[in-house]
Amino acid sequence: MPVDLRRQGETAAGLPDLEALLASVQAGYSLPQAFYDHPAMLDLDLRAFLSRHWILAGHISQIPEVGDYFLFELGNESVIICRADVSSVRAHANVCRHRGSRICLEQHGQVRRLVCPYHAWSYHLDGSLAAAPRMPEDFEKSAYGLQAIRCELVEGLIFVALADDPVSFEPVRALLTRCLAPYDLPGTQVADQRSYSISGNWKLSVENYLECYHCTPAHREYARFHSDSSPREEAANRLEELLQRAASVGGLTERRVEHYGLGALDNQESLVYDRDPLYPPAVTGSETGAPLAPVLGSLTGYDGGTAYIHVGPLSYLLLYADHVILYRFTPRTAGTSQADIWWLVRGDTEEGVDFSRAELTWLWELTIQQDKTIIESNARGVSSMHYRPGPYSPFEPMVVKFQAWYLDSLRRNLPEGRGSQF
Ligand code: FES
Ligand code: FE
Repeated sequence: MPVDLRRQGETAAGLPDLEALLASVQAGYSLPQAFYDHPAMLDLDLRAFLSRHWILAGHISQIPEVGDYFLFELGNESVIICRADVSSVRAHANVCRHRGSRICLEQHGQVRRLVCPYHAWSYHLDGSLAAAPRMPEDFEKSAYGLQAIRCELVEGLIFVALADDPVSFEPVRALLTRCLAPYDLPGTQVADQRSYSISGNWKLSVENYLECYHCTPAHREYARFHSDSSPREEAANRLEELLQRAASVGGLTERRVEHYGLGALDNQESLVYDRDPLYPPAVTGSETGAPLAPVLGSLTGYDGGTAYIHVGPLSYLLLYADHVILYRFTPRTAGTSQADIWWLVRGDTEEGVDFSRAELTWLWELTIQQDKTIIESNARGVSSMHYRPGPYSPFEPMVVKFQAWYLDSLRRNLPEGRGSQF
């Protein structure tokens, strides 16, 4: 009898049957293989899920002057984030309205106008077309401005959404305004920013970030001081103290806030906020637990706490009393993703005087390298003909919730005519 080499959910033509694939998902189990490595999956993920959600693009200090820009890229999409005038940040599709060339090729820069390198059409920073050489006299320039991308600025953080009809940003604004206010993020600077290529689908990167089941075996250094990796009783006492201190500086006093946008009527961004103590003697996320930089904003001292924030599917924040980590995973191709990390410290501090970049970045540089290794091993195993979805443990609840949210969104937002094959 011939061996059937088709994978779960695949039709005879080799293309996945999406309905069969969705029907084959077992609740509480990792996803069928095609979700993690099929070439058609990225396009579907982008159109039916990621484009409708808010993604961290960067920090306001990256574009301090009018004309400064940087690129935000995801799959084949590229967005120009620029300081259009003193008080506004704009996001434009990095796609020329003439014949579609990329306009900005450098990852960041300073420009007076955005000029396409192909035939030199040029655009004002607000996206309107300024000049189109040798086009007919009656050419309507006003009809060919750059496509605007939805963009929001909150507490110094720039978020974008690729679709015209994303979920509501207001819950994100409300939560971040409350919990970030004592940290004064608009007054911070990017002390370092690094990108990491990961040979694994974006969902493998995100699933790995969402659970700390792997922290004890994979992150010995992180697990030493971070109580989410192995909760002990002493953490509970410290947590009470933390919540009282948060109240005294006008911060968020809840231990945990969680919202996943499940169901057709829910049009809000998914959010998680989680406050956790560090184990003594640690007061921050450093090699020894000792302070790394001056205390942020209006915080009254090194409180020995962390807060984890998840915004939408790809963006994460980690708050310490003296620095903030911004974390983002983006898809590149079906089988590759990218992690970006920003380290923020007070804007009035100086490298070498108030903090050491090597010490500041030590923990999360090490941790992301460890994660890259395990995600890539996971990706190789998931692509094997012997892979079968496996059961999640009780220590992976966020992965289970994320997966339910993702699948629910796919089912509800499938592009027209993509119900069965894609
Ligand atoms: Fe941009 Fe021609 S494609 S000017
Ligand atoms: Fe990890």
